[in-house]
Amino acid sequence: MRVIILVFIILFAFSCNNKYKNAENKDQDYQIIPQPVSIQPSNGKFLVDSKTKISASDALQNEAGFLAQMLSYSAGVTINTGDNGNIQLQLDDTIENEEGYTLSVSYNQITISGKTAKGVFYGIQTLRQLMPASVESKINPTGELTLPAVTITDHPRYQYRGMHLDVARHFFPVDFIKTFIDLIALHKMNTFHWHLTEDQGWRIEIKKYPKLTEIGAFRNGTIVGHHPGTANDQIPYGGFYTQEEIKDIVAYASERHVSVIPEIELPGHSSAAIAAYPNLSCFPEEPTVVTNDMMSEKGKAIQDGGRPKIVQETWGVFPDVYCAGKEETFAFLQDVLDEVIPLFPSEYIHIGGDECPKENWERCSNCQQRIKTEGLEDEHELQSYFITRIEKYLNSKGKNIIGWDEILEGGLAPNATVMSWRGIEGGIEAAKQNHDVIMTPNSSCYFDHYQSEDIENEPLAIGGKTTVGDVYAYEPTPEELTDEEGKFVLGAQGNVWTEYMKTTDYVEYMILPRMTALSEVVWTPKESRNWDDFHSRLQHFSKRFDAMGVNYAKHSIEE
Ligand code: ACM
Ligand code: ZN
Repeated sequence: MRVIILVFIILFAFSCNNKYKNAENKDQDYQIIPQPVSIQPSNGKFLVDSKTKISASDALQNEAGFLAQMLSYSAGVTINTGDNGNIQLQLDDTIENEEGYTLSVSYNQITISGKTAKGVFYGIQTLRQLMPASVESKINPTGELTLPAVTITDHPRYQYRGMHLDVARHFFPVDFIKTFIDLIALHKMNTFHWHLTEDQGWRIEIKKYPKLTEIGAFRNGTIVGHHPGTANDQIPYGGFYTQEEIKDIVAYASERHVSVIPEIELPGHSSAAIAAYPNLSCFPEEPTVVTNDMMSEKGKAIQDGGRPKIVQETWGVFPDVYCAGKEETFAFLQDVLDEVIPLFPSEYIHIGGDECPKENWERCSNCQQRIKTEGLEDEHELQSYFITRIEKYLNSKGKNIIGWDEILEGGLAPNATVMSWRGIEGGIEAAKQNHDVIMTPNSSCYFDHYQSEDIENEPLAIGGKTTVGDVYAYEPTPEELTDEEGKFVLGAQGNVWTEYMKTTDYVEYMILPRMTALSEVVWTPKESRNWDDFHSRLQHFSKRFDAMGVNYAKHSIEE
């Protein structure tokens, strides 16, 4: 009898083994975004169960932990790390691309190899998409978790794959910033451009200048409706991130191989800083103007009480900018940057540079004196002086600058990277001058635009129309560039200006699925991009959004 039972057990085990070893997989088991460079499906399924173990070297413990947590959620059992695991994470010097990886899944073994830990992390992100969407809900599923056998070789097309978020027009809590970073990582993007200072709010604690957040982080009201607005809502609004919160977010991003680039905007879009420290303006006594008489009652009362500068309450471009003539301005900005630099390990600091009206500089004796003593031609060269001086300071601290494409005007600072936003021309010009370029043209990469024709049924947006298809069709390297010049195009980024995005749901709706399209633009080989195929994969991918509980534009996904 015992022998019979033993034989039965062996046969059962063998048939189970065979069941997974030879299991057939379907096309729908391999729906990955961004589309990998090479993907070869095969027969067999890897079963994740309590015997599954992850082995990784010391250098890959962060990635092993990430994977163990994901699999534990997904399989409903605790997945351990240790020696002789059936999941191997490893570094492989023979992989050329810094972010490249190979992933092999067979019925009894998973191996992820990367040139770096970043590559291994991206291999894990791909593995994630080989699992059912329900894994995103972090609720233990019922049933077996299996992964389809496959061999994938993959690397990104561009080294810079970014998402920008304006937290100044509207402020978003730390938890949402982490969700935003999670989405960046899910899409194998690698940069979070954090727009931290604006006319309508200063959002980063600077210990040497406490009024930046005491005064500058709060406005006394906001216009209602589309600019110029129908009224002021009279509701005080604001918030800021402490340096401790910023450290926490940067560490969170770093674990997900996302680099955080802070933007400290200068010389324009500086009303909030000027409200806190009026001497930074060319004209400290001149009152802040909120266009179309849309200032809040409280704002007016503050001005009547003798404080002429207030944090802006409407949207747009304002003439009250940092004075380029006073030394005080540069001392302030250097002090601010001295506190910003240690918080962000990124190679880059974004210094803005866009939309700086020159009218105050034209009538300011300090600015005119600066033009004279520096032998400058005009106010455009004064802007170039401003940017170059800040660049020199940041270079001396080991940082490089990125600026919006207006920094081309009056001459480019020597080491600057240009973010081309008003179109692609700035990017072309900068690349031809042998400067690095990041493409964010508003026609394709501005996720504050409407995303359908049906504006009546869309939430309020700034204007324009950029559909998910428009984003997908975008080609970041302009054809005007030679192959050599094209190498200066580091990549592309989606920009999220939040004048009209008051809530986190709203932001999610505006970015998804447009950032999904962009993720494939910046990762997948140009010749492998195919709209119909992408759109079909998007049907599967969007189920992850459902399971994650994030909002998205469903009409942009429907057939
Ligand atoms: C910008 O959109 N003003 C860079
Ligand atoms: Zn001035």
